[in-house]
Amino acid sequence: MKRVDDFRLRLGKQELVPIVVGGMGVDISTAELALEAARLGGIGHISDAMVPTVSDRRFNTKFVKDKLRQYKFNVANTEKAVVKFDLGLLAEATALHVGRTMEAKRGDGMIFANCMEKLTMNAPKETLRVRLYAALDAGIDGITLAAGLHLGSFALMEDHPRFRDVKLGIIVSSLRALTLFLKKSARTGRLPDYVVIEGPLAGGHLGFGMDWAAYDLAKIVIEIREWMKAEHIDIPLIPAGGIFTGSDAAAYMEMGAAAVQVATRFTVSKECGLPEKVQQEYFKASESDIEVNTISPTGYPMRMLKNSPAIGAGIRPNCEAFGYLLDSTGSCQYIEAYNREVALHPHAKKLHVMDKTCLCTHMRNFDCWTCGHYTYRLKDTTRRNDDGSYRLLSAEHIFRDYQFSTDNKIALPD
Ligand SMILES: Cc1cc2nc3c(=O)[nH]c(=O)nc-3n(C[C@H](O)[C@H](O)[C@H](O)COP(=O)(O)O)c2cc1C
Repeated sequence: MKRVDDFRLRLGKQELVPIVVGGMGVDISTAELALEAARLGGIGHISDAMVPTVSDRRFNTKFVKDKLRQYKFNVANTEKAVVKFDLGLLAEATALHVGRTMEAKRGDGMIFANCMEKLTMNAPKETLRVRLYAALDAGIDGITLAAGLHLGSFALMEDHPRFRDVKLGIIVSSLRALTLFLKKSARTGRLPDYVVIEGPLAGGHLGFGMDWAAYDLAKIVIEIREWMKAEHIDIPLIPAGGIFTGSDAAAYMEMGAAAVQVATRFTVSKECGLPEKVQQEYFKASESDIEVNTISPTGYPMRMLKNSPAIGAGIRPNCEAFGYLLDSTGSCQYIEAYNREVALHPHAKKLHVMDKTCLCTHMRNFDCWTCGHYTYRLKDTTRRNDDGSYRLLSAEHIFRDYQFSTDNKIALPD
């Protein structure tokens, strides 16, 4: 039986270990985690979600405080259209996050940025363009276009001098989404360098409806592979979602995948950005503790632990400090849900908003415990400490387990 290490991912002139650690916003896939994947010869992702916030925590900047000070007058206002991002500061934060990561890079692998179109930031096109440009300027090896159809994203970047050299990929969950993207970006005369095919068992937001369980990653991969063959298009395909062991990964490689993208196993690594208390929740979870729900104001279903503090919390929207999900008219589904509850319970001391959550605040505070379907198997990937807690793993241990294991085995730490 083959193992992942029998294969290599070829991207242009570069040959890589075919393991991609997926982007996990807001700083769950940290620079440290991405750097380990790159050091070991694979690909690691940092995320471009809420970068000013991440920069404040990491580099002692004051982007959030300054924005809140500027818009403090609007905090009690239900209308948020006035709350805008300063594009210069957004570029500065991205340059810091990406630049520092790239400076620290060692080894033969690559660092990509996961860029989410759904972060509409009250000016979708302008803010996306700034984020893409700043990441390219700061020397990122590649950009994975995520959470959205990205029909205009290639065009937004086409005047950048690195547009033809940087590695660009897209995440899709169906052949339809892929063909739509290829049709719309054909004008730029550039194909994506890789396509991540994300199935219904992934963590974070899903590219499916609430009927996600009716879909199967392997079937979607085969459908896309056969379509590309018929169209004589050759783009490396990278399946993602529920690939839990090295053997699962090797099976996709034998099916013609160029690499695999994985994330859930790395949520319990020491390099992951989740606080250890939350990582223990991931370890403890059983299958029935995980749900796919519709509380994300993005409109995409999202998988998370049922005991996430974000569920049912009725906090006041924090758009003056954050505001990453405000659409082009300054609206967010959470603001609507919150205002409805305030109108229904004008004298309540504590509100509960069940149908939506303030995702910016809860992701920022690691209170929305988004996770992959197989999170309940994480406990089988480690040993327990004397106090009953689970031992965190090194990213290197997990990476090498994917790379070298066979027979559906998972190597436990020494
Ligand atoms: C905690 C967590 C957060 C995630 N956040 C994002 C994200 O911000 N953007 C994105 O494109 N994908 C996100 N994902 C999806 C992963 O990048 C990856 O494609 C997927 O989870 C792989 O499946 P696996 O977790 O079963 O290995 C997230 C996954 C997890 C587990």
